[in-house]
Amino acid sequence: MSEIAKIELDGKTFEFPVIEGTENEKAIDISKLRDATGYITLDPGYKNTGATKSSITYLDGEKGILHYRGYSIEQLAEKASFIEVAYLLIYGNLPTQTELDIFTNNITKHTLVHEDMKQFFEAYPAKAHPMGVLASMVCSLSTFYPESLDPNRSPEAKDLTILRLLAKLPTLAAWSYKNAMRHPFMYPKNDLNYCSNFLHMMFAMPTEDYTVDPVVSNALNKLLILHADHEQNCSTSTVRIVGSSQANLYASISAGISALWGPLHGGANQAVIEMLEQIHADGGDVDKWVTKAKDKEDPFRLMGFGHRVYKNFDPRATIIKKACDDVLEKMGINDPMLEIAKKLEKVALEDEYFKSRNLYPNVDFYSGIIYRALGIPTEMFTVMFAIGRLPGWIAQWKEMTENNEPIGRPRQIYTGATPREYVSIEKR
Ligand code: CMC
Repeated sequence: MSEIAKIELDGKTFEFPVIEGTENEKAIDISKLRDATGYITLDPGYKNTGATKSSITYLDGEKGILHYRGYSIEQLAEKASFIEVAYLLIYGNLPTQTELDIFTNNITKHTLVHEDMKQFFEAYPAKAHPMGVLASMVCSLSTFYPESLDPNRSPEAKDLTILRLLAKLPTLAAWSYKNAMRHPFMYPKNDLNYCSNFLHMMFAMPTEDYTVDPVVSNALNKLLILHADHEQNCSTSTVRIVGSSQANLYASISAGISALWGPLHGGANQAVIEMLEQIHADGGDVDKWVTKAKDKEDPFRLMGFGHRVYKNFDPRATIIKKACDDVLEKMGINDPMLEIAKKLEKVALEDEYFKSRNLYPNVDFYSGIIYRALGIPTEMFTVMFAIGRLPGWIAQWKEMTENNEPIGRPRQIYTGATPREYVSIEKR
């Protein structure tokens, strides 16, 4: 018999169904709560609220498990290509060779952006943060493809928008960097794979030969896979909620990019490196900074530590830490930031404050050190996260539109003034 949850309110008992996911996660379905009782639930930050049923990503924060469509992140990071993972997330299964060839070929065909967009880049100041540029550029894509404004036009039209976005994001991302450097834009080279093509557009110059280092391209492939989806996090929820108003995919993803930018979410990778540089410049006294992080009067937090859902370890951080050692060794780099990061991790993991609050290094703690080794400038770190997260955002948006989910519209408990009379300005 299915379980029932009972809530007692005003002397009456109300029953609500308990639902269970395929991995035995349980939830009380309170979708009829207000109609039945007149009450709503209050859950700031949605810490206990399931906003949707989803078949894309499974995550167990206590056990440190992360699966995309049933496949473990460890296996995918080890064996798959980012484009295979994108297909898996968006369409539900790993592609056959033919499906992968068609998908790759279709993405390759759409890597160019409209020439007029170059003028948009040129209008930004050199100091513009590339995340601001990227969010604007992605939203601007909608102006070039007016047929995409109706997200439900047809499955074929939806697929075309998805392909265009997957193909163009690396071009827009690389050009945001080129523009900041005031270097000439490099056009995509369609004989290169997704990661190598991005690296080419970032680092090649028209005056020099540039060959993509396979160590760099493989490390990037792994990093993008590790970031590809993470169920209902802040930016993904943003994409779903914007999309729930039937806003187009470009607008929804642009909003997701903006949500990702914050230092508590994807912006943490930039913040981690800036923090490590600050500690390094300050003489490298790790204990001093751990003490600051624990001080509630001090706004400083240990960036790259803690996670809303992982309360044991972040499986992505475990893979990244190892990849970080590998990449630095293969590239012969000795980065003092890595030494500080390792010391910081050791001290924090032995400290009662961090232990009692289950604060562990998260995905962003070591990713910045790899990005540095790959030559990616610090301000581009969160852009890299966005390129990785794109297939997840798209998959979640597609699922939401296909399930005809209702418009997202939370309620509130009002705590403001009760009704009062308007007072003319002379009498206030
Ligand atoms: N340094 C010091 N104290 C911390 C930290 C930290 N990094 N993170 C959490 N705490 C403390 C916090 O002060 C609170 O203490 P108390 O119970 O005494 O008030 C307790 O731990 C619980 O923290 P919280 O802020 O209530 O937890 P949350 O689930 O709301 O926030 C978080 C999660 C990731 C925003 C937070 O841990 C944080 O700010 N971390 C640093 C930023 C960071 O690395 N973000 C990247 C997350 S991973 C990438 C992604 O998927 O977005």
